[in-house]
Amino acid sequence: MNAITRLATAVSLASLFPLAASAADDKGTIEVTHWWTSPGENAAMEVLRNQVKADGYTWKDNAVAGGGGSTAMTVLKSRVVAGNPPGAAQIKGPDIQEWAKAGYLIPDNGLDDVAKENNWDTLLYPTAAKIVQYGNHYVAVPFNIHRVNWLWINPEAFKKAGIAKPPTSLEELYDAAAKLQQAGITPIALGGQPWQDSTLFESVVLAVMGPEGYHKSFVDLDQATLTGQKMADAFAALKKLAGYMDPNRSGKDWNLTTADVINGKAGMQPMGDWAKSEWTAAKKVAGKDYLCVPFPGTAGSYTYNVDSLAMFNVKNKGTLAAQRDVAKIALGTQFQTVFNQNKGSIPVRNDIDMSQFDSCAQASAKDFAEASKDGGAQPSMAHNMATNLPVQGAVFDVVTNFINDKNADPAKAAQQLGAAIKAAQ
Ligand code: BGC
Repeated sequence: MNAITRLATAVSLASLFPLAASAADDKGTIEVTHWWTSPGENAAMEVLRNQVKADGYTWKDNAVAGGGGSTAMTVLKSRVVAGNPPGAAQIKGPDIQEWAKAGYLIPDNGLDDVAKENNWDTLLYPTAAKIVQYGNHYVAVPFNIHRVNWLWINPEAFKKAGIAKPPTSLEELYDAAAKLQQAGITPIALGGQPWQDSTLFESVVLAVMGPEGYHKSFVDLDQATLTGQKMADAFAALKKLAGYMDPNRSGKDWNLTTADVINGKAGMQPMGDWAKSEWTAAKKVAGKDYLCVPFPGTAGSYTYNVDSLAMFNVKNKGTLAAQRDVAKIALGTQFQTVFNQNKGSIPVRNDIDMSQFDSCAQASAKDFAEASKDGGAQPSMAHNMATNLPVQGAVFDVVTNFINDKNADPAKAAQQLGAAIKAAQ
């Protein structure tokens, strides 16, 4: 029995219904649990908050700092156990199914009507539509598609280090890292937090094994692949890259490492395109002040990460109306454009004019469409798209222990990965 199902049996549904909204509410109040707290993320969230307020609803912000959302998920679970769920929460991927299966997200809150009125079935990329539905009912509202397998580059730092062009393979990446190191620049900016370690690890697995091997590892959870030679090679590559990171990276937030690349202290950051939101917030221009390239060795593949707000099972009519308002706003043409320009992602609607977006977003949209045709598009493990949270947690533990132990053996780590995943299943 997984964590949420256990939670479901322990908490009676009756205890979930929040008390009536406060007297100050006019049309209704919606409290939203999320982890969009960096300057760039906040700028994107502000677009949503402002629209909800303009529509006459009260927005109660339950922002829980911590990239990747592990802390937010812990807060969410304890709120639900205490019988105090928010109106909406940032929940993603297979986790949505688990919360829905446990009865916390209702299919009859009017989301299906909003979806019908606004043509979601036709407008949403099928990959995203599937994620936010449970038993053919919409239970969550999708916002965007992030690409995870990116590398963000400061071209000035590359120039100083005498690197002629962005790396396109792991060998070229090691080479560029060595040159940056010689020039006194931190080669690879990555904060030491489990989700960040695994964000890099999944890109390395993709580079070493290709999309089929990635799929077998993180979607099929195939033991032979998880414990095989190629997984050991991926761990060996990770170790090599860790040697080019700031030794004081422990606990550092992702946006602070993005700042290191922006100000030229570091040369490159392997991170999903929410990192671009920091460049945008710093008024930097894609293709000029910074470069985005697929993580070396993964061109043609695309690890996707769809952000969504799941709508909780509440009785308050005002909150229900506010949930529907958020759903309506989220898929609007104008909102999809402005929100995603700020967030660094691409629209989750397939009909948005991409000429209003920067070169990185345009490349992302094109690559997503192409990778979706031939199995190159894969769900991100590190960002809750591929597995449930217990399995993801097992991967995080093995990867972070490995990266922090200079004497760790790659072949042994692959064995540990297989065993840890088996135990979490
Ligand atoms: C979320 C992004 C967020 C990033 C860093 C990812 O898991 O999908 O929306 O910006 O974490 O916090």
